[in-house]
Amino acid sequence: MMSAERVLFVDHTGQIGGAELILLDVVEGRERSSAFLFEQGPLSKALADKQLKLITSKWGQGLSQFRRDSSWLTALPLAGRLAAIIVEIARASRTHDIVYANSQKAFVLAAIANMLVRRPLIWHLHDIISPEHFGAVQRRVQVALANARATKVIVPSQAAAAAFMAAGGRRDLVEIVPNGLALPPEPRSRSELRQALGLPAGPLVGVFSRLAPWKGQHVLIEALATLPNVGCIIVGDALFGEQAYAAELKQTVLERGLADRVRFLGHRRDVPTLMKAVDAMVHPSIDPEPFGRTLVEAMLAGVPVIATDAGAAPDILDGGRAGTLVPPNDPQALAKAIASVLAQPDALSGQLEYASGRARAQYGVTRMLDAIGLVIRKLQAGATA
Ligand code: UDP
Ligand code: GLC
Repeated sequence: MMSAERVLFVDHTGQIGGAELILLDVVEGRERSSAFLFEQGPLSKALADKQLKLITSKWGQGLSQFRRDSSWLTALPLAGRLAAIIVEIARASRTHDIVYANSQKAFVLAAIANMLVRRPLIWHLHDIISPEHFGAVQRRVQVALANARATKVIVPSQAAAAAFMAAGGRRDLVEIVPNGLALPPEPRSRSELRQALGLPAGPLVGVFSRLAPWKGQHVLIEALATLPNVGCIIVGDALFGEQAYAAELKQTVLERGLADRVRFLGHRRDVPTLMKAVDAMVHPSIDPEPFGRTLVEAMLAGVPVIATDAGAAPDILDGGRAGTLVPPNDPQALAKAIASVLAQPDALSGQLEYASGRARAQYGVTRMLDAIGLVIRKLQAGATA
């Protein structure tokens, strides 16, 4: 059934990262809504395919390639463009009942636009507002705007909620809605998949995140250098201006003589299938992960997870019952955990079953959509009452 609310979804990027994959689920059945994107990209077509009206800023192209840890000083020459985008968002808000910002940059501009055209404003905060991820000024600006203008701040985990409040965010704004994932395709045997995908037969691990320093692919490469028999697929590409990091990773693999067992597969659209082909999924983020869809994807795929113990990961993995936790940024500990998981696959069957049950029960897509739908409906009711 089509939802009645006219929501203006705002995102700064045209790329499809984890936050945008969530957005694509949230907009399902919302043909009366529109999406305002700062720039064009693969996300534009994906949203148009969902029958949303698409508005693309005239001024935002390329802004998503601005690293999010860049200081606002670097952004100063862009002030004119940002002001123009604020005006565009304000204008688009007029014909909508609710504004829903799906990224940090989208929220900052939407919150300022909200001073010009007042609408209930939802911030779906997919980030951890902690010192590891944002400078002090950025944290202060974001939280001040949230406290002043947001009607609700949806976060995907307790860790993201805690960081928002530790930065001064108002507790009453926060609504924790864990991300929800669809079930993966029907199982095929691991060896069958390896053959079909042209992957080698021996011990194989994989990492399935966009390439970015904080996602920690370099730590995994360091760990692999000490595990002579283990192959690895590195799936994902630099989406938000991290091309130098991607080049560095490839260079390290060559220099360390790992090219025959570490393969870069680039950005792929078949991650849930690829995941089923590996013996373990490694999640090596060195900074706290706000949620980490790939953790749940691996749990649903029945693949052992080895993840760093920071952000939402320990929660999702239930303190280590649903996967192996290792300290962040510690190649030695990671290598040890990989070796141990690969050495005793049968011993993990209980953990895998528990993980899959947990993922289905706690992190299903319907549960997420119901919770977000309720937030939107309540605000709509309040706005039109
Ligand atoms: N992903 C993908 N293709 C790739 C690499 C990743 O489709 O080549 C997907 C991955 O399956 C996951 C999402 O991108 O669903 C990334 O979300 P996550 O929450 O793990 O991290 P983010 O990149 O949003 O920080
Ligand atoms: C962000 C976070 C990731 C989260 C995703 C969806 O990109 O980095 O941890 O899973 O958004 O909420």
